Amino acid sequence: MNNIDQLAHTVAAVLKARGLMLVTAESCTGGGVAEAVTRIAGSSEWFERGFVTYSNTSKREMLGVRPESLKKHGAVSEPIVREMAAGALKHSHAQIAIAVSGIAGPSGGTAQKPVGTVCLCWAVKHGALVSETQHLSGDRQAVRERATVVALRGLLDFLGVKPVTIRTQRDGDNVAAIHRAAFPTEAESRVVDELRAQGKALVSLVAESGPQIVGHVLFSAAEIEGQRKDGAGLAPVAVLPEMQRRGIGSTLVRAGLDACRRAGVGFVVVLGDPGFYERFGFERASGRGLRNEYGAESEFMVIELVPQSIPAKGGLVKYAPEFAKLVFDRG
Ligand SMILES: CC(C)(COP(=O)(O)OP(=O)(O)OC[C@H]1O[C@@H](n2cnc3c(N)ncnc32)[C@H](O)[C@@H]1OP(=O)(O)O)[C@@H](O)C(=O)NCCC(=O)NCCS
Repeated sequence: MNNIDQLAHTVAAVLKARGLMLVTAESCTGGGVAEAVTRIAGSSEWFERGFVTYSNTSKREMLGVRPESLKKHGAVSEPIVREMAAGALKHSHAQIAIAVSGIAGPSGGTAQKPVGTVCLCWAVKHGALVSETQHLSGDRQAVRERATVVALRGLLDFLGVKPVTIRTQRDGDNVAAIHRAAFPTEAESRVVDELRAQGKALVSLVAESGPQIVGHVLFSAAEIEGQRKDGAGLAPVAVLPEMQRRGIGSTLVRAGLDACRRAGVGFVVVLGDPGFYERFGFERASGRGLRNEYGAESEFMVIELVPQSIPAKGGLVKYAPEFAKLVFDRG
């Protein structure tokens, strides 16, 4: 998943959790911000509309930007993006707006406003309005993409959401604290320690917000008995209770699946709620003829990362023994 997609997913989770609808008013990005956020399934719940106002006339007609402001400040200026954001809120049913206007190049730059100058504004209906000017590097495409990233990251800043970064777990990271807080027993944190100590953790990622670790996901080796040894089991995944429902768990799962794919893992199994895991492409494992040792049925799910890595006749999936112990301990 690229940076824009990751940001868009976080924006989606935050807007949804807060019940806010978004409107975009875009010039140099030509609708790129709207495109990025509407890639996400279900975006109609929190994305209201997007204005692509490339010409000055359209900025006036669609957003109510004042001709005298355009004349005085020029289309790429903070006063104009502020008027664009305010106009977008006025001419939509959204509560929060992003406005972008810039010079993507290669022509159009001046000494005062060189190519790469991008003005942005974030505004909430009847509330705060913040604008800034950025000088972005790169060719036309890079400037447009970077402007989209800045627009989305700026929206999270504006909403007071600290960006979350995902990285590989390092020795000394206190992931046990996450599992203790998220699960009712110590079992999960013990299993994580055992799997890591035995070198059986294929992929282990943490989510960091500032200096704090707020989430963790682990993928350990799993096989289809007698047939394939290139599988992984996703478990456990946890996010600090006070940080849940902000898209962190989903970001960890997606980043983990990407890392498994890069590591050549053929398929990933999980015992979990289908409502949560279907969104990442997991399907019922029974539909692929796969069984497990724990009697789990609908909640036993699989995703095939490498085509044909699940044998046509299916088989019995075996997790690392440490993980089996966790399931039996919890009864
Ligand atoms: C499961 C968990 C990791 C999700 O993390 P998160 O950061 O809250 O997840 P996101 O914000 O990315 O996604 C939240 C969405 O998942 C849904 N969801 C979360 N946990 C779910 C569950 N157990 N079953 C079904 N849906 C679930 C939420 O309802 C929400 O749906 P929405 O987007 O439609 O509103 C977190 O809730 C957690 O730590 N739970 C306790 C530990 C646990 O049960 N882990 C899973 C088993 S190993």
